[in-house]
Amino acid sequence: MARRTYYITTPIYYVNDQPHLGHAYTTVLCDCIARFKRLDGYDVKFLTGTDEHGQKVQKSAEKIGVDTQEFVDRVSQNFRELFVEMQLTYDDFIRTSEKRHIQGAQHFWQSLADKDEIYLGKYEGWYALRDEAYYAEAELVEGKAPTGAPVTWEEEPSYFFKLSKWQKPLLDYYQRHPDFILPHYRRNEVVNFVESGLRDLSISRRSFKWGVPVPGDPDHVMYVWFDALTNYITAIGYPNQQDEFSQYWPANLQMVGKDILRFHTVYWPAMLMAAGLPLPEKIFAHGFWTHEGQKMSKSLGNGVDPYVLIEKFGVDQTRYFLIREIPLGNDGDFSYAAVETRINTNLSNDFGNLAQRVLAMIHKNCDAAIPIHAAFTEEDEELLRKAHNLLNLARDYVDKQQLHRYCESIWEVIAAANRYVDYQAPWTLRKVDLNRMKTVLYVLAETLRYVGILTQPIVPQAASLLLDYLSVPTDQRAFNSLTVLQALKPGSLLPPAAPLFPRIFDDKAA
Ligand code: ME8
Ligand code: MG
Repeated sequence: MARRTYYITTPIYYVNDQPHLGHAYTTVLCDCIARFKRLDGYDVKFLTGTDEHGQKVQKSAEKIGVDTQEFVDRVSQNFRELFVEMQLTYDDFIRTSEKRHIQGAQHFWQSLADKDEIYLGKYEGWYALRDEAYYAEAELVEGKAPTGAPVTWEEEPSYFFKLSKWQKPLLDYYQRHPDFILPHYRRNEVVNFVESGLRDLSISRRSFKWGVPVPGDPDHVMYVWFDALTNYITAIGYPNQQDEFSQYWPANLQMVGKDILRFHTVYWPAMLMAAGLPLPEKIFAHGFWTHEGQKMSKSLGNGVDPYVLIEKFGVDQTRYFLIREIPLGNDGDFSYAAVETRINTNLSNDFGNLAQRVLAMIHKNCDAAIPIHAAFTEEDEELLRKAHNLLNLARDYVDKQQLHRYCESIWEVIAAANRYVDYQAPWTLRKVDLNRMKTVLYVLAETLRYVGILTQPIVPQAASLLLDYLSVPTDQRAFNSLTVLQALKPGSLLPPAAPLFPRIFDDKAA
C-alpha cells in the first residue's frame, strides 16, 4: 500500500537581505509539523527556498556593486546555512533562479496563455517597490501603501492575468472548503476582499530584466509574484505531472505570514484554477513578530538575528520559544527576557528537572537500570493514562496548526508527573518501601518515554538525549511505539545522564 503523503511548504524568502527571526519562525513551525508527520508514519515532503527575482533584489545587488546572480547565490546560501544550523529538516530547497523553476514557471505561463487566460494591456497604478505590489488609489493611506511603503505612479505595457473572472469560482471554493484559509478570521478578510471585486492582475514588467523571461516576448519578465508562486509545483517536477507531482500535489499545508495572505489565497488559487490544477488543502497564515513594539523587516533593518539567539540560548531553546510563546496565528512581541523566562520555567524547571530527578534516582537507587515494578495503583494508572492519551491530543492540535496547544498538552503531563513525584516522594519510599519506590520510578520513566518521543518535533536534540538516557532503541522512537507493548523493559541499563536544559542566568542579575 502507498504511504500517506504530506506536503508542507514555507514561503520562499526574498534574498534582498539577510534572514531574520521572522523567516526562522515560519520555517521552524513547518519543521515541527514535518517532523511530527514523519514520526506519525507519513511520507513527508517539506519545501522551503528563496525567491530571487524582481526589481528589489536587482537593486540590492546594484547597491553593493555585485553581479546579481552572485548576490543571490550568496544570500540564498545564508538562508540555507541558517536552516541547517537550526536543524530544519527541509527535504528540498528551491531557488527561483534554478533552471527547473524557470522552465516550470514558463510552462505554467504558456499553459495559461494557451487557455486565453492572459492578454497584453497597459498597466498604470501606484507601485510600492518594497512590497513588489501595485495598489489602487483607494487603498493608499496618507499617500503611502497600506503597509507604509512609499509608492510611485507607474505606467507600462503589461500582460494581464484574467483574475476578475475567478471571483465567483473563488468565493464558491471558500464556501465549500471552510478550512481552506485558516485561522477563520483571516478567511473572512479574504472573502470580504474578493467580494469587493477583483481586477485583472498585471503579471509582467518591462522596466527591468531580473526575472523569468515571458515566453514569446523577451521584452517582458514575469512579475516576481507570478513566478514565485509557481515554486510550489516546479519543486515537485511540474510540468511533469507524474512522479513527485502526482504523489504530493495538492499540498496539504502551505504556511505563510499574514502579510502575504492575499497572494496565496486569491492569486495562487485563481492561477491554479485557470491552469486546471487542484488547489492546496490549506493555507494557514501566522501572525507577525514585532521587536520591542516595532515591525521587524528586512527593509527597516531591525530584525532579530537568529544566530544570536541560537548562540545565546541554544537551538532547541530557540525553537521551543518560537513554537510555544504565541498561539499560532496571533502576533507577538519579541524580547530576550521572554525567551529567558520560557527556558527557565518550562524547559529547565518543569521538563529538565523532572528528567533529572527521575534519572538521578534510578542511577542511585536502582543500579542504573529500569526498575522492576509491582502492580500499579490508581495514581500510577492515572499518570500513565495521561501519557498514553497524549498522542491523540497532539495529533488533533497539530492538524489544526495549534502548535502552542500541542506543547501545552505535553507540559500538562510534565506538570502532572512533577506533582506525582512530590506526592509519592520516592526519596521517602527508599527508606520504608523499596518495591513501591521502584514502581514509582518505573511509572515516571515510562511517562518520560512518552514525553521524549512526543517532544522530538519541538526540541529534537534534548528529546533524543532523553531517549538515549532511557535506553530507548532508535528504531522505537516513532509514534507507533507509543503503546504499552513497547513500554520500557525492566532491567535495561541506562547510560549516564546530563541535565537537558541548563538554566539561563540573567547577565545583569549575575
Ligand atoms: O514575502 N514575523 O518573502 P519575504 C513573522 N518572497 N514572520 C515573518 C516576519 C515577522 N516579523 N517577517 C517575515 C516574501 N516573516 C515572498 C514570498 S512565496 C511564493 C513568496 C516571514 O522574504 C513570514 O512567513 O518578505 C512572511 O510571510 C515571510 O517571512 C515573508 O518573507
Ligand atoms: Mg516581505
